[in-house]
Amino acid sequence: MRDIFEAIQRSSIRIKKAIDVKDIGYSQEQNSSGETQLQLDIQCDMIIEEEFSRVASIHTIASEEKEHAVELHDSGKYYIAYDPLDGSSLVDVNLSVGSIYGIYEKSFSGTHLVAACYVVFGPRVEMVFAHNKTKLHLLQGDHWEFVKEIRLNNKGKLNAPGGTQQHWAPYHKTLIDGLFQEGYRLRYSGGMVPDLHQILLKGGGLFSYPATADKPNGKLRLLFEVFPFAFIFEKSGGHAIDGVTRILERPVAHVHDTAPCFFGSEYEIERVRDVYTSNQ
Ligand code: AHG
Repeated sequence: MRDIFEAIQRSSIRIKKAIDVKDIGYSQEQNSSGETQLQLDIQCDMIIEEEFSRVASIHTIASEEKEHAVELHDSGKYYIAYDPLDGSSLVDVNLSVGSIYGIYEKSFSGTHLVAACYVVFGPRVEMVFAHNKTKLHLLQGDHWEFVKEIRLNNKGKLNAPGGTQQHWAPYHKTLIDGLFQEGYRLRYSGGMVPDLHQILLKGGGLFSYPATADKPNGKLRLLFEVFPFAFIFEKSGGHAIDGVTRILERPVAHVHDTAPCFFGSEYEIERVRDVYTSNQ
């Protein structure tokens, strides 16, 4: 696992440099989810693939930017699914973006996840790696420094509601409005990495991306986005569900499957579960 941790650290230093200098232009290619790819996404994907190719313990990689998984080392035991630059459309307005990694053993499924990581590229570059515990690291020049362990409180103050409100189910709107009426504050940038990072570092809250009329399976991808953050929240004392069920138990049929998802501390996730259980 140490070799993977260090490969992510090396990749992140290179990605940071690419973000700092790269022109923001649209390429002609589309990724497998049908979005127009930014050239920067492609460059970040290549950086990570190159670094992971040097790590013998990695059997297979799956990238949000690639249609299919790619086998690297026949004798490796880890399967890594990653989103090289999540929220990349936020780069051109200079908001924070991030990379997300799910490290699986033997196959890509939520129950086989053994570690997860994300890196936030904001005013500072920070890396959160969860294995047994969730640990925050800060990039200082070309070196990483351990900062602290992350633990969520039982209840937070932030509410990050994703999805188009026009298409929310009425009970979902009631749930979100109810939290605001309790004093929760809106914090939503449109980047999953900085939005969840804020909830983790401020002690708790709720991030939701529900099923909506226009996106009945949600938007966020299980292997690259949802499972890694679910693992990180659980290791930090929080929870992640699809409304009713623990999300890491959700089956995956295809590498690019999406699912509705809710991440938060104990109190908020119980609220979600109550509302969704009584409405399904
Ligand atoms: P993309 O990679 O296409 O920019 O998507 C970003 C993701 C995720 O980071 C974020 O939480 C979510 O999309 C935001 O979606 P909405 O704009 O629909 O709220």
